[in-house]
Amino acid sequence: MPSASIDGLPMFYRTAGSGTPLLLLHGFPFTSDIFWPQLDAPPPGLKLVCPDLRGFGQTAARPGPSTMEAMAADCLALLDALQLPSVLVGGVSMGGYVALALTRLDPSRVKGLVLLDTQAGADDAAGQQRREQTAVDALAHGVSGLVDGMLPKLLTPHARPEVRARVEAMMRAQSPQAVAAASRGMAQREDSRDLLARFSGPALIVVGALDAITPVEKSRAMAEALQGSTLEVLEGVGHLAHLEASDRVGAALAAFARQVTGRG
Ligand code: MLT
Repeated sequence: MPSASIDGLPMFYRTAGSGTPLLLLHGFPFTSDIFWPQLDAPPPGLKLVCPDLRGFGQTAARPGPSTMEAMAADCLALLDALQLPSVLVGGVSMGGYVALALTRLDPSRVKGLVLLDTQAGADDAAGQQRREQTAVDALAHGVSGLVDGMLPKLLTPHARPEVRARVEAMMRAQSPQAVAAASRGMAQREDSRDLLARFSGPALIVVGALDAITPVEKSRAMAEALQGSTLEVLEGVGHLAHLEASDRVGAALAAFARQVTGRG
């Protein structure tokens, strides 16, 4: 797996496919491997660049909360290292929060947005408290409690057993420190709804109709705010729609690639 040096520490990433570059960011608490179906069969017209965000997978951890801005700044530095001036930027859930933070930091780098099972709003006070508890619990007892609580909300009961097993193993392999830092970082994230109203590039929004973490209403609200966006609601699948309905998500990504290159 290749890496780039970001402020003196390695950031690892996976790439696959050819065409318009799509920086595709994983959710919490995962790694770039969560995009295995897309990396194994890249949507035509897209070159995927999927980093491990700070502290996750093989990428080095940094002190303090992993704010969405800090992770977005890492990604901008990775784009610099790869000599990619502007790209499509997307992510699943927390990856979507980072994609929006990156857009806030430097909209000139963002050719278009891909928002998969995510939301633009910030946490309320109760949500921030839950994140802090997650951080404290992970540091005190490890990630098992988080995995047991989260897994039923990530996938529907119809998810294939091998998908469920790979998702669970990936979560259990993440360090409590990375989990705590990202949980605290998500608690601090800004409300990005104003940003959507200002963004004039193309956007694709995809959500599983059964998403229990960032439900369909969140995606509908983003689609209303983002002029000229396409919204796909995928029946029968949950928060990790790109795993449970990888064919439908792949087709939506390929159609978006055609749209951005003017061939759709
Ligand atoms: C994720 O899937 O990245 C997280 O569930 C997002 C969140 O907790 O808000």
